[in-house]
Amino acid sequence: MTDCCSATGYRWAFSEKRAWREARRYERRGLDPTSRRIVEVLTMQGVEGLTLLEVGGGVGAVQIELLKAGVTQAVSIELTPTYEKAAGELLRTSGLEDRVARKVMDFAQAADDVEAADIVIMNRVLCCYPDMPKLAGAAAAHARQVMVLSFPRRTWWTRFGLSFANLVLRMTRRGFQVFVHRPERILATAEDRGLKTTLNRAGSFWQMIVLQRITR
Ligand SMILES: C[S@@+](CC[C@H](N)C(=O)[O-])C[C@H]1O[C@@H](n2cnc3c(N)ncnc32)[C@H](O)[C@@H]1O
Repeated sequence: MTDCCSATGYRWAFSEKRAWREARRYERRGLDPTSRRIVEVLTMQGVEGLTLLEVGGGVGAVQIELLKAGVTQAVSIELTPTYEKAAGELLRTSGLEDRVARKVMDFAQAADDVEAADIVIMNRVLCCYPDMPKLAGAAAAHARQVMVLSFPRRTWWTRFGLSFANLVLRMTRRGFQVFVHRPERILATAEDRGLKTTLNRAGSFWQMIVLQRITR
């Protein structure tokens, strides 16, 4: 995969056990605050009749909410196979199985195999991938109308906390690291692909940006 991160490392960080825990949490309490804000922003601008591509969507809770709100079809790309069973069960119980196509692959490496969509979402994904320009650039190029990203704010304390986490991960040879990419570089990467930032909102830990397509 890359020097810092291995397939085993990703499967450890995003284990099947974690996937089932997230699915149960969503069934009991609905979306977490960051995911809820993403769905709210998109539904406010209108999602009726649009298609969705979510990269690193985990159990797919955001996809389910947007399909209920009017999105016609969704494609979900996941790096690890560990979410597939829990995600499949959520889709079955929601009766939305035939409206989501799930693929397990590294989107940054094989984005050409995936069709563009009206809406592209990457929620808390860039912080799990070393090559930000490749992943964010590929996602932006796939957004026909709008792209929503969330990633950790780059403050001294997020950098300090995540550097410490990385130290522990390296010492325990987990094959997984976290990244606090520079927000201005993320924005520049997306804007170079013809998108324009229309919302940039910082929460206590996560920063969310919305970009709209202005040129192809
Ligand atoms: C922190 S989890 C976030 C899951 C979900 N979006 C959420 O917010 O609950 C990050 C996810 O991104 C996925 N991911 C990271 N890099 C990826 C890539 N290059 N292609 C596809 N998925 C990726 C990981 O497998 C993981 O499931």
